[in-house]
Amino acid sequence: MSQSVTQNSTSVANESAVAGGVAPVSEPKPTTSTPVERTPQPASTRPSSFPGALRNGDVKAGDEAPVWSVEKSTELYQVRGWGEPYFTVNAAGNVEVRPDPSQDRAIDLYALAQDLKARGLQLPLLIRFSDILADRIRRLNECFGKAISEYNYQGVYRGVYPVKVNQQRHIVEEVVEFGKPWSFGLEAGSKPELLIALANVSESGGLILCNGYKDQKYIETALLAQRFDKEVIVTLERIEELDFVLAASEKLGIAPTLGVRAKLTAKGVGRWADSAGDRAKFGLTSAEIIEVVDRLAERNMLSSLQLLHFHIGSQVSSIIPIKNAMAEASNIYVELAKMGANMRYLDVGGGLAVDYDGSKTDFHASKNYNIQEYAYDVVASIQESCNKSGVAVPTIVTESGRAICAHQSVLVFEVVGTNEVRFGDPVEPKTGSHAILRGLYETWKGIVPKNVQEAYHDASQAKEEAQSLFKFGYLGLRERAEAERLYWNCCEKILLHIRRMRYVPDELQNLEKVLASIYYCNFSIFQSAPDTWAIDQLFPIMPIHRLQEEPTERATLADLTCDSDGAIDHFIDREDVKHVLEVHPFKPNEPYYMGLFLNGAYQEILGDLHNLFGDTNAVHVRLGEGAAGYHVTHVVKGDSVAEVLHFVQYSPESMVERVRQQAERALRMGQITLPQMRLLMRHYEESLGKYTYLSDDDT
Ligand SMILES: Cc1ncc(COP(=O)(O)O)c(C=O)c1O
Repeated sequence: MSQSVTQNSTSVANESAVAGGVAPVSEPKPTTSTPVERTPQPASTRPSSFPGALRNGDVKAGDEAPVWSVEKSTELYQVRGWGEPYFTVNAAGNVEVRPDPSQDRAIDLYALAQDLKARGLQLPLLIRFSDILADRIRRLNECFGKAISEYNYQGVYRGVYPVKVNQQRHIVEEVVEFGKPWSFGLEAGSKPELLIALANVSESGGLILCNGYKDQKYIETALLAQRFDKEVIVTLERIEELDFVLAASEKLGIAPTLGVRAKLTAKGVGRWADSAGDRAKFGLTSAEIIEVVDRLAERNMLSSLQLLHFHIGSQVSSIIPIKNAMAEASNIYVELAKMGANMRYLDVGGGLAVDYDGSKTDFHASKNYNIQEYAYDVVASIQESCNKSGVAVPTIVTESGRAICAHQSVLVFEVVGTNEVRFGDPVEPKTGSHAILRGLYETWKGIVPKNVQEAYHDASQAKEEAQSLFKFGYLGLRERAEAERLYWNCCEKILLHIRRMRYVPDELQNLEKVLASIYYCNFSIFQSAPDTWAIDQLFPIMPIHRLQEEPTERATLADLTCDSDGAIDHFIDREDVKHVLEVHPFKPNEPYYMGLFLNGAYQEILGDLHNLFGDTNAVHVRLGEGAAGYHVTHVVKGDSVAEVLHFVQYSPESMVERVRQQAERALRMGQITLPQMRLLMRHYEESLGKYTYLSDDDT
């Protein structure tokens, strides 16, 4: 454990105010809140992507070397923006985790990864910090508690965790455990998830909400579960489900507790905006909601209708659509109550966003509000509508998933090799060389900060000319190669200058990516961060050690799969998305560990077996007593090769047998020696029991 770097307390507003050690921040109330909008800047006026770039004050007099520090790494990787209050950089230059911000206790992430490796847990390794999960649940509940008490709201808050966000057994069990003080419940979006919810929510008393497509069995199961003191609410997502519910209710003689999901006109923003609106996949239109009311009333069952639900999409990065949706839904709620439904719950769905890039703006990877502001807005809107119409306020339900589960897990993976773009020092063309080569060399010599753009134009034109001259036979292949190399020498020199500039001309911005190295990493994007590939989602990614050292290289990351899409070339940036990551020079015999943060929501279950890279090892770590200050509560071993082969219907035993027969034949024919056969069979059989990723003895 080590001392953390002193935080600049004015740089970031805390996400929420919670009791017990986290500095409370007085949050604006909805009426006075002024969300911070991201103003897009023209590329030419954007600051350089690299805080590591030299600035006036950074250069010591008489010394050109930049002064690097852990503070600069903290700034470069925007750790304060996305990491607070859980992640920081310590004085040793390692990422440090403070899983429970109310306690002054920290875990050095690099030391932890090494410790877990020493216990035989190979990288890539998913580390789940249970105390972070507990803190997220506490924050959400305390923010709603605070809003309810400040507004003197006469109802209560009872959140649920949508199981689909991360169904892993240990996660769901921990959610139920940590949520117990607030009777936190579970939301199911399918029959299997309902089975999970029924098995896990018992004495805690949380709600069980049944969403998603439902068949007769789903509904009957939900209704029967009501009989053993569970509060199970079936939310109608499609009008057709009403028939199933009425049939099941009649068959079982159980009056259902029902909800309706409304298709709001208010939409979210970003990728999931179509979760609401007229063409949304789920939800009932106003006409369909009226039909439900009328049909229930005909059967004298209107008292069954107790909940109104909406969901305007995930990762709603701006507070404005949330306010709009709240206003619309609150009015629908009031109308239903006035029509005689026994309204008790308003379920505002998910959508509470995560600040992946730390910019605190309405950019899709960020959010321009915090949990407290969200809670204020939800409570205020419902209260206003209900008070206006004299309707009793409901129990407020949220289905926040991402905001609960994203922060708790970190994927630690290792760089195993690099492909660096190196052109060497420029070589002066020999006397009598073609003028194009001399010209390029002169261009290279003359590059200074003031003329980078002009030099780039000259070098590009010369390269094109060299290619035409080659095409028409006036330049040999060796000379063409020399011209190309000089061109890249010019680009490298230009790049060194533009990294130090505050404003980079548009056409030069791509140079960084073109000249970046590739860092090959021991993990699969498709398994561990599928949304980086599927929807270009941004996650904070950074080295977890050597942060006292300047990261002088620029790289994209490539995974182990044989797929050109298995690469990450978009990273969080202060103002935008950057296409290269600042990394340290790779030293082949030394470990270089990277962390992919905030990946606890959706990634695990969406991950797939591309190239048969299976589930990674996962561990649950909790703060605890003892020298290390933590203990490992669960180890979930990643898939072995034999397991992933089983998933695709192979029988490893018969595969061994078939290879043995081929080896025997080769032995008989004298194509292989006995020791070679033995070695082959040993490798084959041992590989079946091993981790699907590169392991130490393979690397
Ligand atoms: C109905 C419903 N509820 C809750 C959620 C969870 O949303 P989030 O993870 O954005 O909080 C989702 C996910 O999109 C959803 O579809």
